[in-house]
Amino acid sequence: MHKVYTLSALLAVVLAPAAQASPDTYALPEPTAQFKPAPDAGHAVGFQAAQENCVTCHSADYVAMQPPGKGAAFWDAEVTKMVKVYHAPIEPAQAKVIAAYLGAAY
Ligand code: HEC
Repeated sequence: MHKVYTLSALLAVVLAPAAQASPDTYALPEPTAQFKPAPDAGHAVGFQAAQENCVTCHSADYVAMQPPGKGAAFWDAEVTKMVKVYHAPIEPAQAKVIAAYLGAAY
């Protein structure tokens, strides 16, 4: 009885990798995080620009995860960091409206 148990355990170890040998395909989930809507019409352009420029490297989660109410200066520094440190291809004028929108919305 003991021998049978040992043999089946051994078979499981030997056969398990074979069962996994077929190629795996992964369907990545759609990002669920969205940018908060612009709080007013004046920040609509910044909202649009954030949607176009701030999700090429990571999701909008990165913005949503920051503590609320950090203000315009914090977001200005954050956007500048994305451009200077991580080389986000964002024009200075665009960066400005994005930072203003983030400061107002978050
Ligand atoms: C070129 C790629 C790239 C683009 C474009 C980009 N980011 Fe990032 N971002 C990064 C990297 C890299 C990190 C750091 C990730 C880590 O530390 O895990 C990061 C992190 C962050 C964080 C987390 C806090 C921090 O400072 O690490 C925030 C907030 C953020 N990005 C906001 C933005 C916003 C807003 C935009 C649009 C203006 C943007 N990102 C565009 C690359 C990018």
